Amino acid sequence: MAADRHTYRITGGVPLRGTVEASGAKNAVTKELVATLLTDEPCTLHGVPRILEVDLVLGMLAELGTEVTWLGEHTVRVHTPKVANTSLSSAYSGVNRIPILMMGPLLHRRGETVVPLPGGCTIGKRPIDFHLEGLHQMGADIVDRPGSVKVTATRLTGAHVHLPFPSVGATENLLLAAALAKGTTVISNAAVEPEVVDLVLMLQKMGALITIDTDRTLTISGVEELRGVEHHTVADRIEIASFAAAAVATDGRIEVRGARQDHLITFLNALRHIGGEFTETENGLEFFRGRPLTATDIETGVHPGFMTDWQQPITVLLTQADGTSVVHETIYEDRFGYAEQLSRSMGADIELTTRCLGATACRWHNRDFQHTAKINGPTQLKAADLVIPDLRAGFGYVLAALVADGTSTISGTRYLERGYEEPVAKLAAVGARITTQPA
Ligand code: EPZ
Repeated sequence: MAADRHTYRITGGVPLRGTVEASGAKNAVTKELVATLLTDEPCTLHGVPRILEVDLVLGMLAELGTEVTWLGEHTVRVHTPKVANTSLSSAYSGVNRIPILMMGPLLHRRGETVVPLPGGCTIGKRPIDFHLEGLHQMGADIVDRPGSVKVTATRLTGAHVHLPFPSVGATENLLLAAALAKGTTVISNAAVEPEVVDLVLMLQKMGALITIDTDRTLTISGVEELRGVEHHTVADRIEIASFAAAAVATDGRIEVRGARQDHLITFLNALRHIGGEFTETENGLEFFRGRPLTATDIETGVHPGFMTDWQQPITVLLTQADGTSVVHETIYEDRFGYAEQLSRSMGADIELTTRCLGATACRWHNRDFQHTAKINGPTQLKAADLVIPDLRAGFGYVLAALVADGTSTISGTRYLERGYEEPVAKLAAVGARITTQPA
């Protein structure tokens, strides 16, 4: 991955006040860009965040023959009249989770593809067995190669695929494969995160036939072709929750324009248990502290549960709450690596354990993964020099620096900027004392 463009200097202790605009969701728009490969007609996406991850995906599409035209700051037109290449170059090996989602569209357009194996944040093993097994069930021939997989299919056919776990990526992969497949595909135990539903909405506008049942079953009746589309990407509920946590942690007040209550129900309950509050505004939601902060137990889970990507800012917020909180991470086995720097360098009191401390034992039960955090608070965090290890931990560190006493420096900002649009400008707009230095 590219080097940092800059490091941040953040002086903590300032209550953040003001308004920020929510960006489009990275985890929706990147898949929606892939979906445009399913048609030879032009597609226009609005609400596209200007983040490194979007640049990466547009670079991949350009390699395949897509014409990319920015029509406005957040509007991009993508058009793939012909798929010129069926394979991505090895430069995209290990960079993110997107190339594997291109398998279905490329099989439909060209009958074969070689895609590099995925990378992304190092927060667990993140295998792709569900993706490959599902495509295999739909008739794809899959051959493993070093660092890539070769997939061929004359025509994908509908199948009943039961996912062993409601994987977001595997659900999206199979949706993209099934939209143009011959016959009906049923995905049971599917992920139904708002970003997945946003992809379904876009595909439906393109002409796809998809139903979503209340029991996590998606049924896709394959159609012969899909048409161009104009679609506005859903707002980023991870970014929104990050700013909400920042408002409450700094005892300030932040309105996030574009925030949708229906996508944040579980987050808002957790925030309220801790002492945060929200009100609806004309254009979004406003977040603030409703009472002194108190310890709370939180368990991450699949939607409509508490998102694993909300875990990091909330853990930092809990360092400011009175009492012992427990955060049980059930999605990824290794998503608390960032906590060590908070304890060692900033004075947080966070203890990691391999035990499940939630209501039920999770998939990481009795295995050697430190996936539960006990947070004793409140602690006055002190400034430190921090190195961001992954995207969501990145905002956790920024938040820790915002509540800390003194001036922190943060490097590894390339990880944060993969997924957050203009974080420095947005934080400065709500009064954060944040500056950048060339890296
Ligand atoms: C997506 O990752 C997001 N990434 C993640 O956000 C997010 O944390 C995650 O969904 C859960 O909401 C993107 O959308 C690009 P999964 P994804 O497949 O699709 C296991 C961020 O910071 N699994 O739902 O890769 C897997 O190991 C990122 O924006 C298999 O075992 O997540 C994990 O334990 C980080 N085999 C669980 O399922 C498979 O074939 C859920 O992963 C697939 C997944």
